[in-house]
Amino acid sequence: MQVPLCDLTAQYLEAKEEIDTAFHEAAMKSAFIGGEPVKKFETELASSFGLKHAVGVSNCTAALSIVLKSLALQPGDEVITTVHTAAPTAEAITLAGGRIVFCDIEEATFQIDPKAVEAAITPRTRALLPVHLYGLSVRLRELLAIAEKHHLILIEDCAQAQGTLYDGKPVGTYGAAGCLSFFPSKNLGAFGDGGAVVTDNDEIARFVRMYSNHGRQSKFDHTIQGANERLDALQAAIMLPKLRRLAQWNERRRQAAEWYRQRLADVEEVRLPQPIPECTPTWHLYVIRTEGRDALAKFLKDKGVGTGLHYPMPLNLQPAFASLNKPAGSFPVAEWVTQQEILSLPMYPHLREEQVDHVCAQIREYIVSMIRQKRIVKP
Ligand SMILES: Cc1ncc(COP(=O)(O)O)c(C=O)c1O
Repeated sequence: MQVPLCDLTAQYLEAKEEIDTAFHEAAMKSAFIGGEPVKKFETELASSFGLKHAVGVSNCTAALSIVLKSLALQPGDEVITTVHTAAPTAEAITLAGGRIVFCDIEEATFQIDPKAVEAAITPRTRALLPVHLYGLSVRLRELLAIAEKHHLILIEDCAQAQGTLYDGKPVGTYGAAGCLSFFPSKNLGAFGDGGAVVTDNDEIARFVRMYSNHGRQSKFDHTIQGANERLDALQAAIMLPKLRRLAQWNERRRQAAEWYRQRLADVEEVRLPQPIPECTPTWHLYVIRTEGRDALAKFLKDKGVGTGLHYPMPLNLQPAFASLNKPAGSFPVAEWVTQQEILSLPMYPHLREEQVDHVCAQIREYIVSMIRQKRIVKP
């Protein structure tokens, strides 16, 4: 049996008729920039969050960097984020003229550690940029309290967490703005790149709309120098039928996570992901921890099971961020779990129970053989 890490074709096939129609309509109208599909998508997206504004942009890197630009950071202004995230989270800070300040994560949750955040605050700190990693939620209550105490703006990176709830309300609605990614493999994926900013803040929404469209308020009225970072009409049209299915697809991810939990909870060599009690996760990724994960990944590959590493190292160890001078040992928890233990198992809405059975049976087989080998080496 083959079980890929992710199956986007199954998603397409479920919504094929509507997607094909959307594609055809856009082509026949030759309307590719802005217009009705983008408006419609933004309206439904904002209402799915219960917020006033959703502004489509070209990707989540743009969403994050434009929201940060709206803060008019001055040279030396600092933005605190997690060291265990995709590179774009940190890149966005630099793109907006800020200084990246990394923090370590909590071992049990993989999320930014509020204690580390508090310790990283300086007189130059302007904003907190927590990431709801893997479709789980950060400790929002603690982070919002820190932001309030130190007069900081909190912006939520929800690239991996569209639909995730904290205390029953979507993440992305707690900070000044939430930033979304529609990278194809995200819970809501485009046929290419896409992103959005969701917010109740009129000023942020206005700035994002203007900046992403060459800094203009109308066709020939350029107020600021911006960029071309708009969401394509075609992507918006294609994503509408997917957006309408997202709640149901996220529910199916929760079902798959429950199948994993039922089958692996008693395997003591495997540590399962732990959402905090306030969180209703959307399981963008299902990440387990185990000793010797590289050998397990190889074993699973040979048995037809796709796995992934999100991410193989924390950002402080990437050459791109070397100038921050945070050598190995600076973030012990993230450095240990990323390089030694984490492994992403197959996770997508169309994952079937027998496929989870197969993955879990292979993991059990590997663990048994590993234990046997250890007994041979150390009698
Ligand atoms: C946590 C996180 N933030 C930001 C991004 C950037 O998203 P995009 O690829 O849409 O620019 C990603 C995507 O990889 C991500 O996973």
